[in-house]
Amino acid sequence: MSSGYDQLLGATIQHLEALKARGVRHVAVAPETLQALALPAPRRVAPAPVDQPSARATSPLIPVRVSPVAAMTPPVESPALFTAEAKTTFAVPLDPAGKAAAFSELRTRALACGKCPHLASSRKRVVFGVGNIESPLMFVGEAPGADEDERGEPFVGKAGQLLTKIIETMGLSRADVYIANILKCRPDTPGESAGNRKPTPEEMTTCLPYLHEQIDLIQPKVLVALGGTAVEGLLGKTIGITKLRGTWKSYRNIPLMPTYHPAYLLRSQALSEKRHVWEDMLQVMERLDLPISEKQRKFFTKA
Ligand code: URA
Repeated sequence: MSSGYDQLLGATIQHLEALKARGVRHVAVAPETLQALALPAPRRVAPAPVDQPSARATSPLIPVRVSPVAAMTPPVESPALFTAEAKTTFAVPLDPAGKAAAFSELRTRALACGKCPHLASSRKRVVFGVGNIESPLMFVGEAPGADEDERGEPFVGKAGQLLTKIIETMGLSRADVYIANILKCRPDTPGESAGNRKPTPEEMTTCLPYLHEQIDLIQPKVLVALGGTAVEGLLGKTIGITKLRGTWKSYRNIPLMPTYHPAYLLRSQALSEKRHVWEDMLQVMERLDLPISEKQRKFFTKA
């Protein structure tokens, strides 16, 4: 009969093989797990016959020395640690062809998704994401609206046009960055012909693995979370975006800049809020070592 250790090892290998088959090329591992994995595997310990007490000291099956860390840490962590919740990512760079293939497989899977039957039946298109999968910069929004649902592309409506302007003011184009959402389907609004609604926590939990996989594959150097829902989806934080914006956070070791959603800027129309977003983008540009002109620096400074 296999030991608990063997069963756990088997389950872990099976889980990693399944991830590999889905195109995932690296996993997030908690630092303490990494430390434990660096230790030699524990040897099987034959129970010492009661009449041979000295066997413990001499059998080759018995570890001679147990390090203090090994003594405190289970030999193999549960496969549950290899999830989005783990805090640290040790990313192995992917070759572009392998990345493109894995991304295409992920996209195919997402486009056929029916995990939220109410959204699968109300959507016109799944809005997977758009842009350069080799980009060091990735923007994450909330969910598609009516325009995005129609076109199958994120941020193409009024808020999207403003986001495009922001990206262009940074000296980039939409094709230079990657843009995705927490939710890949438009949240349905039964009985209403217009308007949007915030994704429910269940919808977010169901859809988030697609975004986690997108980020895992793209491996951006900087993430920009547009609005409170994006921050909540990526960091699990529920404190307001007003408090969070402009301060660097971290998503699995990737620097993350929370900022206002462009739809909020359209609603508010306050110059001060636009300036805040621009200040956040200047921080992003600095982090990415992008050139910043005098004009860009002074964009919103009062004359
Ligand atoms: N708002 C979002 O959060 N995402 C879109 O794609 C469009 C509008």
